[in-house]
Amino acid sequence: VRSVTASRGPGGCGPVVVIGGGGHAKVVIDVLLLAGWAVAGYTDPAPLAGEQIAGVPWLGTDEALPRLRAEGIGWAIAAFGDNARRSHLAQRALSLGFALANAVHPSAQVSPHARLGRGIAIMPAVAVNAGSVIGDNAVLNTSSSVDHDCLLGSGVHVAPGAHLAGYITLEDDVLIGGGAIVGRGQPIRVGRGAVVGAGAVVINDVAPGTTVAGNPARVLQPRRAAPAAGNPHAP
Ligand SMILES: CC(C)(COP(=O)(O)OP(=O)(O)OC[C@H]1O[C@@H](n2cnc3c(N)ncnc32)[C@H](O)[C@@H]1OP(=O)(O)O)[C@@H](O)C(=O)NCCC(=O)NCCS
Repeated sequence: VRSVTASRGPGGCGPVVVIGGGGHAKVVIDVLLLAGWAVAGYTDPAPLAGEQIAGVPWLGTDEALPRLRAEGIGWAIAAFGDNARRSHLAQRALSLGFALANAVHPSAQVSPHARLGRGIAIMPAVAVNAGSVIGDNAVLNTSSSVDHDCLLGSGVHVAPGAHLAGYITLEDDVLIGGGAIVGRGQPIRVGRGAVVGAGAVVINDVAPGTTVAGNPARVLQPRRAAPAAGNPHAP
């Protein structure tokens, strides 16, 4: 978990380009507009022809980003639910000279004593309480909450309706599935790249790279690969 230097992250201004045109990007565009950003448009490899999102135009594939930067668009946000893809494209935007915008919905309650990095999406009805630190390119999805003194690394995703109690650490690239709860009245650490299944109740540390699910959450064993169809000799 890297340190975060920003205090609250940038408020609305712009113009900003949204990288991505899927369902997650649709919400990010909505949040940016409500937060007062001027949204220049979005990039996407395969939009529906001529498609606008909330009146915001498609600006081309991601190959258009250098031109958009040269034309004076100074802000970008990578808008994908997938952690790896989001972080990758945010890094690309930084390398092209964009600053990363934060999309914070007006209904979100973010403590003045919390700290936000850059490139973060905070969706409607989220709460972030005092003493918590949210790393770059995090997504705090609809109606999720991060209680006091949590430390969230970069590229994490707290899915809709998931809740973190106080003193929870999420290392980089963690996914907390929808409706999951992490907390036991003592600090818990979820290791880098771990996945917590939807609806899980996490009461112990989670090892990096593992997937846990259930109540209490336990490591999910991968299903045995099924024999390939039509190949009776497959193991
Ligand atoms: C936990 C999770 C990652 C597992 O996905 P997966 O590796 O593809 O696992 P599978 O679907 O093959 O399921 C493997 C087993 O785990 C069980 N399982 C899967 N998800 C589970 C969950 N959330 N809770 C309890 N058990 C679960 C399955 O029933 C299956 O059990 P079986 O082998 O006895 O039939 C996934 O189900 C999940 O919950 N993802 C989070 C989704 C989410 O909230 N995304 C955010 C979107 S904004």
